[in-house]
Amino acid sequence: MPMNACGAAGGQRVDELLEQMREDIEIGLVPAEVFNDPSVHDRELRQVFGRCWVYIGHETEIPNPGDYHVRRIGEDPFIFVRDESGQVRVLLNSCRHRGSVICRVEAGNTSHFRCPYHAWTYKNDGSLVGVPARQHGYRQLDLSEWGLIAPAQVDSYHGLVFATLDPQAPPLADYLGKFRWYLDMQLALTEGGMEVIGEPHRWHVGADWKSGAENFTGDSSHTQMTHRSLLETGIAEEAAAGRPGKAHGLHINECDGHAISMRVLTSGEEPYLGYPKEVQALFEAGGLSEAQLDLVRRGVVHDGTVFPNLSFIHFSAKEDVERPATAFLSLRTWQPRGPGRMEVWSWVLAPREASAEFKRAAYRAAMSSFSPSGSFEQDDAVVWSGVARTAGTVVAELRGLKLNYQMGMPGMGTAEPLHDWPGPGTAWPSNAGESGLRTFHRRWLEQMTLPEADPDAASARDGEG
Ligand code: FES
Ligand SMILES: [Fe+2]
Repeated sequence: MPMNACGAAGGQRVDELLEQMREDIEIGLVPAEVFNDPSVHDRELRQVFGRCWVYIGHETEIPNPGDYHVRRIGEDPFIFVRDESGQVRVLLNSCRHRGSVICRVEAGNTSHFRCPYHAWTYKNDGSLVGVPARQHGYRQLDLSEWGLIAPAQVDSYHGLVFATLDPQAPPLADYLGKFRWYLDMQLALTEGGMEVIGEPHRWHVGADWKSGAENFTGDSSHTQMTHRSLLETGIAEEAAAGRPGKAHGLHINECDGHAISMRVLTSGEEPYLGYPKEVQALFEAGGLSEAQLDLVRRGVVHDGTVFPNLSFIHFSAKEDVERPATAFLSLRTWQPRGPGRMEVWSWVLAPREASAEFKRAAYRAAMSSFSPSGSFEQDDAVVWSGVARTAGTVVAELRGLKLNYQMGMPGMGTAEPLHDWPGPGTAWPSNAGESGLRTFHRRWLEQMTLPEADPDAASARDGEG
């Protein structure tokens, strides 16, 4: 068996790799192989996506009873649906009879899902209500035992719906922990919160999901190089790129495993992330604290990652150089699709109370920057796919190639943590740092090396929808 194949040999190799990484991460190193390896990928699906809270979708995507979209936890297919009573459900997209996929379209509205194989039929709350030939073939079948399978827990925060397959996972509020303080600034600017505009875009990239997730924790130093053409043409502002003297960079890490970075102006203008005056006026009623509101008021860019694979960027972009920039919130998930490959999902959001005209402009600004055809997005896809290519080389394995995440570490950087920081976590007042990326990889390592889940508890997760 080749060394990097799955199975017992692959499992042992991953154990050794993770053991070594325990020492490496303390000095800011990460083994390259974790970005493209079948055994690591296999372990991730179980330990990370099988046990963490994973983002499913936003409540405003399914406003009416029967509205549904297909989604994923790791690589497993689920249906995200609002049932007839208005409750949001997450249901495994697999028939309980003999396993065929029951919902074969991306989105729609339905009161029932009927399997195309033998027509077992489920209500949109997951309960089994119809079995053909029941009187002649299934006289003792208890329908209540054969509903669609649901994750162990489903919960939401400011409209974001998450699910976990692990019955022993902590409650969602604890999982998000102190990072909720930063999420509030993205999701609760106004009383009505944020609303998804249009359909999500999704596309495949030949890169590992972790490349996207780590980048959005605060890879501030790539902007000057990767997105240089946007700065040179004037599509992106120097302040958004965090060029010294233009805006103050902040990296906040050690926030219950999640991380955010911000570019904020230190004096003078009040950019409000680029929101126009009429939208800014709505922020006073949003319920943010004065410290949170101040970071929004001075904010040029906020971007972050909720472990494992939900990221966001909140800023303003220009559709072209001639037009003014418009603010938007982009939510994105980095879905694993095999070793060294991912599917990116991307949603555009705007404050619910904003005008239809503003929402249209926000959508167009997002399309021009963070979408499959977006200027920023295409730049990023190129460099991330290079990481996966390197990680999959024979040299990476034979040499035990390590990647460098040491920027700004004690002994490397000049920045010291802010002692008067008003929010949770540790704030570093510099763009020259990779503390958020190190937080991400520490959290990943912790999750990958958690003791195996209790099998008795695991069997309990086969609850009915
Ligand atoms: S597999 Fe679905 S009805 Fe048979
Ligand atoms: Fe980028």
